[in-house]
Amino acid sequence: MIKRILLSGSNGQIGSELIEELRKIYGRSNVIGADLREPTPEILENGPYVKLDITNAHELANVIKEYKIDAIINMAAILSAVGEQNPHRAWNVNINGLINILEVSRELGVKRILNPSSIAVFGPTTPKENTPQETVLKPTSMYGITKVTGELLGEYYVRKYNLDVRGLRYPGIISYKTLPGGGTTDYAVAIFFDAIKYKHYKCFLKKDTMLPMMYMPDCLKATIDLFHADFSKLKHFTDFNIAAMSFTPEMLYNEIKKYLPEFTIEYEPDYRQQIADSWPRSIDDSLAREEWGWAPSYDMETMVEDMIKNVKIKVEKCEY
Ligand code: NAD
Ligand code: SER
Repeated sequence: MIKRILLSGSNGQIGSELIEELRKIYGRSNVIGADLREPTPEILENGPYVKLDITNAHELANVIKEYKIDAIINMAAILSAVGEQNPHRAWNVNINGLINILEVSRELGVKRILNPSSIAVFGPTTPKENTPQETVLKPTSMYGITKVTGELLGEYYVRKYNLDVRGLRYPGIISYKTLPGGGTTDYAVAIFFDAIKYKHYKCFLKKDTMLPMMYMPDCLKATIDLFHADFSKLKHFTDFNIAAMSFTPEMLYNEIKKYLPEFTIEYEPDYRQQIADSWPRSIDDSLAREEWGWAPSYDMETMVEDMIKNVKIKVEKCEY
């Protein structure tokens, strides 16, 4: 039974919300947040937190020993757009950081590791519609290369060392509590803040760029459900496709406009267009549904309704 979890990357878009959900299940003191930032009184008020760079194996091992950690959920990473600005850093954090986590877990008896992957594992030669889990994995971004490598490394540790390693391929995640950390799908969050603050948004992708997306409550549910799945019943481990919705910037704009009729948009694609063009338009998540009962709750319409309500509150409180 898992008692103590280390959540690395706990200050990021997903980590900052996942930590709250995990603390509801495991108890506040049993989920240790870890990220690059110095702890502030506000962070410490919520529960245990350590400043940790996952590329430092020695520091990582000390934290595992000190807090008697028996599971690690690793949300520390460099995402696609930032990764293209600094590919070496993306490799270092996403791969050397992950190797440290796997090695320390093996050596110190950590019982379970969850390391997320991404739709970025796919590339221009992968089928774009209803992309299967088992298909061509030839990504062109450094981020995608690290995510394929991460999946394979995780599976290697399952086979070679009998370590319990799990992972799922998130689509673009949409949320309002913590802003995204530099991905290609970040437009689908920024559009809400700009629509409400300025009634105008300049989009860095073309209007017809269809990408798979997911609302944060579904992302949290998927992560926790896979973390709790019976490992002995899984046939796949580190590469589960999950899906919820797919839309283009223009489709999202039209849906937001229903709530904000004065909202306008312009399109000025930049280097992120090439990354987006290499990714699928929609995802087949049937293996996750079969093996651990995955099913999403939000579609584009219900996501937009909830985002508008909550982003308005944040903008009114000047929390952005
Ligand atoms: P994020 O960029 O918002 O957060 C990442 C966190 O990791 C940040 O707080 C950062 O400070 C921390 N970090 C970076 N380098 C570190 C290091 N060396 N040591 C410790 N911490 C470090 O990312 P996110 O969106 O929360 O993503 C979490 C995971 O989900 C990543 O593996 C990412 O690839 C994956 N993912 C995210 C999305 C998405 O749309 N958000 C989609 C697909 C996959
Ligand atoms: N949302 C992520 C990105 O755009 C997908 O992994 O980088």
